[in-house]
Amino acid sequence: MTASPLPQDELKTQVGRAALDYVVAGEIVGVGTGSTVNKFIEALATIKHTIRGAVSSSVASTERLRALGIEVFDSNEVEELAVYIDGADEIDGHGFMIKGGGAALTREKIVAAQSRRFVCIADLSKRVEVLGAFPLPVEVIPMAARRVMRQFERLGGLAQVRERDGLPLVTDNGQHIVDVTGLKITDPLAFETEVSQWPGVVTVGVFAHQKADVCLLGTPDGVQTLVFGGAASLRT
Ligand code: A5P
Repeated sequence: MTASPLPQDELKTQVGRAALDYVVAGEIVGVGTGSTVNKFIEALATIKHTIRGAVSSSVASTERLRALGIEVFDSNEVEELAVYIDGADEIDGHGFMIKGGGAALTREKIVAAQSRRFVCIADLSKRVEVLGAFPLPVEVIPMAARRVMRQFERLGGLAQVRERDGLPLVTDNGQHIVDVTGLKITDPLAFETEVSQWPGVVTVGVFAHQKADVCLLGTPDGVQTLVFGGAASLRT
């Protein structure tokens, strides 16, 4: 008889707990957004007396952290963070990621950029060879949405404005999200550099310049630790 596979939720719980090993005592920890990070926040609450607090990448995570008694600092109050813990929608073999499924990509990229180390927590379903199967989130200034969508269509993608309750979703920053399907992002660094320059793009959900240093990957055989090189030199 073979053991039944662990449910995805259990894999998220395991990587959320495993991330505690990367939290530096006495420091402020960078905290991302999403269902996997929610597991990390629950785990973090059990050691909250050992840290000074957190910098959060979304209103949702801030509320969750404060509800558990963890102090949340504004990112401007903190020069540098030892570690940033966040999930991903896709991660490849270099630590390059697609993020933003939860619409928090801009603040996630900001907190990642001010952190010395990015630890990605993800279940096995997020591990890909080439980025692009997950619809790529792009935060845009609303007046630029159509133009940005046409630019993606020229690259072979199909873009649509993300909606909630029949209206464009509004991010924590008051902007809109365009989701792009049909792309194969074979050179994430070049892609991120190019799209970031398009007028009206606030943040593209490719995290190549702010890639992961480590990924704690939840698998049926336990948590695997993937270590990627060179991220610190890329973080700009
Ligand atoms: C939030 O905007 C995203 O970048 C999340 O990190 C990503 O969507 C992963 O979320 P889950 O952990 O819920 O899959």
